[in-house]
Amino acid sequence: MSIDKNRHISLTGIKPTGTPHLGNYVGAIKPALQLIDESAVALYFIADYHALTLIHDPKLLDQLIYEVAATWLAFGLDTDKVVFYRQSDLPEVFELSWILGCMTAKGLMNRAHAYKAAIAQNEAAGNADLDAGINMGLYHYPVLMAADILLFDADIVPVGKDQVQHVEIARDIAQHFNHTFGETLVLPNARLQATAAAIPGLDGRKMSKSYGNTIPLFSDRDKLRKLLFKFVTDSSSPAEPKDPATSPLFALYREFASDDQTEAMRQRFAAGIGWGTVKQELFEVMDAFLTEPRRRYAELLHDRRQIDALLAAGAKRARELAHPTMDRVRRAIGARS
Ligand code: TRP
Repeated sequence: MSIDKNRHISLTGIKPTGTPHLGNYVGAIKPALQLIDESAVALYFIADYHALTLIHDPKLLDQLIYEVAATWLAFGLDTDKVVFYRQSDLPEVFELSWILGCMTAKGLMNRAHAYKAAIAQNEAAGNADLDAGINMGLYHYPVLMAADILLFDADIVPVGKDQVQHVEIARDIAQHFNHTFGETLVLPNARLQATAAAIPGLDGRKMSKSYGNTIPLFSDRDKLRKLLFKFVTDSSSPAEPKDPATSPLFALYREFASDDQTEAMRQRFAAGIGWGTVKQELFEVMDAFLTEPRRRYAELLHDRRQIDALLAAGAKRARELAHPTMDRVRRAIGARS
């Protein structure tokens, strides 16, 4: 199947497992929003049933779903251009997931990295039962993700590095399906979001919930300023020239500043600048950028019916797009003649 630049179908899922932080914005939200104009169809969805492998607290799951939805909307996701929905509103996903599961070698799932990581953890902990604490959802996860993708003939799947293997698994499953039943499913490609790994957290390591070094996106001004001033820096004096290429503060600054501001900051690094000044200026560009999203986020979470209405409309469109694929699949396997 040839891919015309203007005919891409891009799709990505957002797992609601934590309050969105700055690393999520820079690594996932911003590049995904930029991709929209390149696509004939863009589908972005809240992968709530993926989160269920991990979160078994109904209040928390409910809260996180709305936080994630509000975050994307607050940053300007345009629901006229993007099909924005909740995974659990689409029964077709789960039907396809079963069908694909029957086309997936068990051994392929044994090699999936989330499962392997869980096994390795049990091993490291000296646990005699290597499958302890691992539910079937976690094991089956890559098949569900394949269903998310293949249901829409998506050819571009923007993801971070940790999800590339899952997209390749989806491709393998589609290939095996097509080989068995004839050309039915479109083979997807991962589009690596290169910045995802490069966004540093407060301690200089990759910003990640599991390191506890994140900056929440929607904290108020004072909290944001306090957090930014906690950023770990070296002990060089203000007069010493500094290398922007190795500075986490610079890496963040350029994400929020204009090109001119970034260039000016680069020159000030070369001339020598105090870390306190860098932090203050980082705070100012970030705060200016976040003012409007912060307001919109609060407004959306205050009145969740707006979110509900947008997601319901998105689910309706998504199901319309999914029906032709499901017809093809059911026919291919012999469930409907
Ligand atoms: N597994 C992805 C993550 O953990 C989320 C996800 C679910 C996804 N389904 C998807 C991403 C389909 C891309 C396409 O981040």
